[in-house]
Amino acid sequence: SPEYFIMDESREVIELVNKLQAYFKSTGCTNQKIELPQIVVVGAQSSGKSSVLDGLVGSSILPRGSGTVTKCPIIVQLITINSDLEEEGIELEDYPEDGRMQDYDDVRAKITELMEKDGGAITDTPIILTSSGEPSDLEQLIFALSRKYIQQKNAIILAVSPANYDICNSDGLLLAKEADPDGNRTIGVLTKLDLMDEGTNARDLLTGISKDVQVKLGMIGLVNRSQKDIDNNFTVEQQLLKEETFLSKNYPDLVNYNGVPFLRKRLHELLVQHILKCLPDIQVKLEDLLRSCEKRLADIPDVISQKAQFAFVNKIILRFENHMKTEIEGSPRSPQYDH
Ligand code: GDP
Ligand code: NA
Ligand code: MG
Repeated sequence: SPEYFIMDESREVIELVNKLQAYFKSTGCTNQKIELPQIVVVGAQSSGKSSVLDGLVGSSILPRGSGTVTKCPIIVQLITINSDLEEEGIELEDYPEDGRMQDYDDVRAKITELMEKDGGAITDTPIILTSSGEPSDLEQLIFALSRKYIQQKNAIILAVSPANYDICNSDGLLLAKEADPDGNRTIGVLTKLDLMDEGTNARDLLTGISKDVQVKLGMIGLVNRSQKDIDNNFTVEQQLLKEETFLSKNYPDLVNYNGVPFLRKRLHELLVQHILKCLPDIQVKLEDLLRSCEKRLADIPDVISQKAQFAFVNKIILRFENHMKTEIEGSPRSPQYDH
């Protein structure tokens, strides 16, 4: 059916970008030269970013809580809205030895371990901003990191603001506005609808009437898990039901345009449209990059004869042997290859 075709095509498009992203990372080539289309989530501490990502992935994999819990950029690769059974599970790209983990507790434990690895420092691999404990300019470090990602014109900015806090002071929206003054590539997410003061509501914000916020891609309201829900091991499914009930009761006419399932659908659409728009330019840049690599390769003189190659490999083997001997005997053999 045409619908199936569209799904299939959009899937291919997203997988293409995922591959490029993995490729750039594996070659140590950052996205500096070629900015890949991606959605970048920004928002104040504890505004609910990790909760939103959990909702999008459809499982509890990220550590959440008050304070600064997330200590490094987290890249979530979107494959498809309805994941097939064979694809279920999460894989951490840098830890293929752990395989595709089916148990989300394992994934969360692994991510927590990674975040705590450098004494809990904020990291933007490969740059590690080491510090013991939390640096006093923590906020500035995180802002700088966020800015770097959202400045890229190929990034869609997902600005998270908690509904129980003055929207004009939303860090997420302020950062977004800096990088995207007209709001053309910004989508707003309003979390914590359930925590608004009694007698107030987010109707103006959710319908785009509010003068306070100008985001052209829309504003989507959510109800994620509270800390108590998390402590009680509330599942994502249970939460979706709770969210739907809340929206039906408080925003019956807006229920189809808010909530995690709608956000998922909307982001998927946006990302695919956005990628298709970016692809021609990416292709040109990739071809340029390829040509300059080929030129550099051609410029390297062909001095490495086969004999030289053998000698080189031989040298490495000798060195390895020597190293092993040292390990076993505790005394180095005379490095004859150095003579
Ligand atoms: P982050 O720092 O932006 O990643 O925020 P987290 O996702 O870690 O959330 C911070 C806290 O707010 C956690 O205790 C969440 O349980 C809670 N929280 C997030 N979203 C909501 C929401 O929609 N409703 C309620 N009641 N609590 C939420
Ligand atoms: Na937090
Ligand atoms: Mg977080």
